[in-house]
Amino acid sequence: MKLESIGTDIWIADGPDIKFMGQVIGTRMTLVRLADGNVWIHSPIQFHADLAKQIEQIGPIRYLVAPNTYHHLFLRDWQEHFPGAELIGPVGLPTKRPDLTFSSLLDPSTAQPWATDIDSVVFTGSRAFDEHVFFHRASRTAILTDLIVNVRLEKQSRLGRLIAQIEGVAFPNGRTPLLFRLGMRDKAAGARAVAAILAWEPSQAIISHGEWFRQNASAELRKRFDWLPLKP
Ligand SMILES: [Fe+2]
Repeated sequence: MKLESIGTDIWIADGPDIKFMGQVIGTRMTLVRLADGNVWIHSPIQFHADLAKQIEQIGPIRYLVAPNTYHHLFLRDWQEHFPGAELIGPVGLPTKRPDLTFSSLLDPSTAQPWATDIDSVVFTGSRAFDEHVFFHRASRTAILTDLIVNVRLEKQSRLGRLIAQIEGVAFPNGRTPLLFRLGMRDKAAGARAVAAILAWEPSQAIISHGEWFRQNASAELRKRFDWLPLKP
């Protein structure tokens, strides 16, 4: 596992594939070096000593961030290896994972400790889950997790291919998974979150599973969220 620098003070690392709903999907984490030199990690992938060493060369790990109640699988290993890091996750995750020690919860109504470098908005309105979306200003990068999935069909079994197509998550046209869209009870709320994301004018957008958007992020996001009532 190797860190890839993708802009000013931002890196990604792709982890092992995992199986989800009959599909083989990649895992990806994002790291930001904050202005104070500390490292902020979004959705840690499987822990690996060599990966941790590469990160420590960037700076001390200060924050481990779980963006939604589904991205918690590898947090424990990271917390064990970096007990000084603050683990911060969404409402509901401490109940789901009582074995983890959270420093605080993601709360869009209060300023996050990394607010100087990273903006955020919470995408709500689906019965499935809420997701906190982030924006690293220095690199103009939007950081999404599961709201858009864009997996390559070559990696899938025949069943996996079929599911990916039905879910609408096949590269290059991957978008919000069908199950999430079906669970949407307040499309206006989702549209407001996407409007906030677009207002950041991101030039690139990371997603956790599949091919992410290295350029034209605003246009790509607008297209993939076209199931919401977005204003032109
Ligand atoms: Fe995910």
